[in-house]
Amino acid sequence: MTTVSPSHVTFDGFDPANRADPYPSYQRVREAAGLSRLYLHDVPVALVSRYDDCAAILGSQDWGHGHEDGLSPFWDQAASLPGSFIRMDPPDHRRLRRLVNKAFSARMVASLAPMIDELVGRLVDAALEAGEIDVIRDLSAPLAVTMVGGRLLGVPEQDRPALRNWELAIARGTDPDDLLSAHDVAERSRAGQEVVAYLHALIGQRRAHPTDDLLSMLVGVEEQGEVLTAAEVLGICVLLLVAGMETSINLIGNGMIALLRNPDQLALLRERPELTPAAVEEMLRYDTPTQFTMRVALTETTVGGHTFARGDGVIVLMASAGRDPAVFTDPDRFDITRYAAAPAPRRHLGFSLGLHYCLGAPLARMEAETAIRTLVARAPGLSLAADTLTYLPSLIHRGVTSLPLDLSAGSARNSG
Ligand code: HEM
Repeated sequence: MTTVSPSHVTFDGFDPANRADPYPSYQRVREAAGLSRLYLHDVPVALVSRYDDCAAILGSQDWGHGHEDGLSPFWDQAASLPGSFIRMDPPDHRRLRRLVNKAFSARMVASLAPMIDELVGRLVDAALEAGEIDVIRDLSAPLAVTMVGGRLLGVPEQDRPALRNWELAIARGTDPDDLLSAHDVAERSRAGQEVVAYLHALIGQRRAHPTDDLLSMLVGVEEQGEVLTAAEVLGICVLLLVAGMETSINLIGNGMIALLRNPDQLALLRERPELTPAAVEEMLRYDTPTQFTMRVALTETTVGGHTFARGDGVIVLMASAGRDPAVFTDPDRFDITRYAAAPAPRRHLGFSLGLHYCLGAPLARMEAETAIRTLVARAPGLSLAADTLTYLPSLIHRGVTSLPLDLSAGSARNSG
């Protein structure tokens, strides 16, 4: 039985017809009562759309995933994918995150800056040389695949296209099962089995011959006598693959779309490249690559005046929180100076918050800032080449399948 009493506003934000712009649907829920109801496996789950309610749930330990107790109405992925700590509650979550954090240190991430700089410069120059650029195909995907697949997981270059295909199928499969087709579920399963077999072999190689990649560090990481088991290392690799690739690819894509649709902001960024970090924060608020996440009430608890029973599920719409006028002035305006202003506006929820706050946020920021700064500096004539964009079918992961740009106003190679 549920004690959730959400409004009955019709929610069409997950309708394929609204894939290009789900924000008016989010607004309708926010304005109606903040909560709306959706049925998954005939179980009602509440859609949480207001900033304060989203932040309250993400920041509270009354909410979690409840897998151990079989509470989650959202997934049945266990059969095809190894468990990852993004879906775990304490104490397992704490233990695994701490061990990964050790390998994923701030120093380690900072040391990647020259490599990212060099790679982005090379990718942008190659595209300009060719006279055309698809931001996803030529920049954001190769960047993420090289950093996460190559540098972190140590996957050899010839295997990275396969890695990208597995990642796409698994990322599509992170939506709640009820929102997937049978084909999507089968593809997730196939990709999960293939990637697990592949990574299993790679982990074996690193145990025998460690290198300087994160995978070798994970295999060797040890703290107070604790080590990661082979299954845990596998789970972490799959997590890094999906959490670290699709998101970064889409941040750069969505961010460029926002800039190109707001030429005054693009011109401002060109004039003041020091605004790039603030622009990336605004991109994470305005059109975040991770639109929502899910939680389950681990105990009876109240949010936004609604009482939830233990086991009640919620979809936390971080993308809607970013457009909440109760928190952000003129929220539908894309303003790259917003996060450069004092006092700073409230943090966006693009990286979530609380126990599951994104572990890869520093790397994601570094990749996006470098890619956007370099592209804007070296290609002065950017505009969208297509009138309509095709969005990925995913609901959690928001991004376009391709983003061809028109470079007709020429370029300034090696000037940025
Ligand atoms: C723009 C890029 C990124 C975005 C928008 C993003 C977003 C998020 C969000 C929203 C969560 C929390 C989900 C929840 O609360 O349920 C998360 C968790 C996580 N992210 Fe990211 N992420 C990005 C890039 C990365 C990268 C590059 C990596 C690593 C290579 C990464 C690794 C992780 C991990 C390991 C977690 C799980 C943390 C935990 O459960 O304790 N992310 N990310």
